[in-house]
Amino acid sequence: MTKQVVGRQRELDLVRAALASGAHILLEGPPGTGKSTLLRQVAAARHAEFVLVEGSAELTPARLVGSFDPALVLEQGYRPENFSDGPLVRAMREGGLLYVEELNRVPEETINVLLTVMSEGEINVPRLGRIAADESFRLVAAMNPYDSVGTSRLSMALYDRTCRVAVGYQDAEHERQIVQLSAEHAKQPLVAEAVELARATREHPDLRSGASVRGAIDYARLVPELAEVRAVSADDWQAGLDAALTTLSGRVRRHESCQRSADEVIEEIFRRVRATSQQGGETDPGE
Ligand SMILES: Nc1ncnc2c1ncn2[C@@H]1O[C@H](COP(=O)(O)OP(=O)(O)OP(=O)(O)O)[C@@H](O)[C@H]1O
Ligand SMILES: [Mg+2]
Repeated sequence: MTKQVVGRQRELDLVRAALASGAHILLEGPPGTGKSTLLRQVAAARHAEFVLVEGSAELTPARLVGSFDPALVLEQGYRPENFSDGPLVRAMREGGLLYVEELNRVPEETINVLLTVMSEGEINVPRLGRIAADESFRLVAAMNPYDSVGTSRLSMALYDRTCRVAVGYQDAEHERQIVQLSAEHAKQPLVAEAVELARATREHPDLRSGASVRGAIDYARLVPELAEVRAVSADDWQAGLDAALTTLSGRVRRHESCQRSADEVIEEIFRRVRATSQQGGETDPGE
């Protein structure tokens, strides 16, 4: 089932229009900003095949394009039927939408293959021959703007062949709606606190990057469970702090110059947010 996208009308319009215009797309935004969710929604309405590939160092050209079955080749030679299509060739033949996540993790040789397909509309596979992309084939690649892709020549070539749709963090109201969708049982004040905590990590001067809405979702789900395990009320101060540390400290990156641990920064944020949130009447036991 495709999750309903909350908000993002502008990005949805841009992606749909760019695909219809024949362009390939680079979705650029920090982790957890809804790039995959957005694209799944667009793909569901396109009625074309949607092929998702997780970008990683192991995504070699052979994995992306496809390869001959060595045993069958030994027996019968390089016949086309002994070739099994990889995700790229499948999407090209069927006029589908190929979505490559985490493009910045993909090896340079593989990015080169994608560049060729984007500019030539075809690739040449050794011993198989030329494969042309159906005219409705499109490539959408997602990447984090803080990581660069390959060499600067590669990244220039990539930007030059794509339309770039920037996907930033959404506003607090949209984030609350997103969290509520994924943490159905969380009460409204808890959802609001979760979003406030995650957003505060993005603005804290000691932190280079903060938690996405995924952190807020986990917080809103964890608090009630932890309260139940400990048989305390859902607005218990210690349960809130422990949940914040558990769901947020691993998701933030500190500035090099920061002398404190991530846990200390999260605790400071939690104290500040809890002091003003509607979540608990309970006060900070440390005060
Ligand atoms: N606008 C949105 N509407 C609905 N859910 C959203 C939205 N944005 C984020 N989410 C939720 O947040 C989580 C992360 O979203 P998603 O996986 O789409 O992000 P992403 O940008 O693809 O992340 P990454 O860069 O790590 O791949 C998912 O649980 C998703 O359901
Ligand atoms: Mg994604």
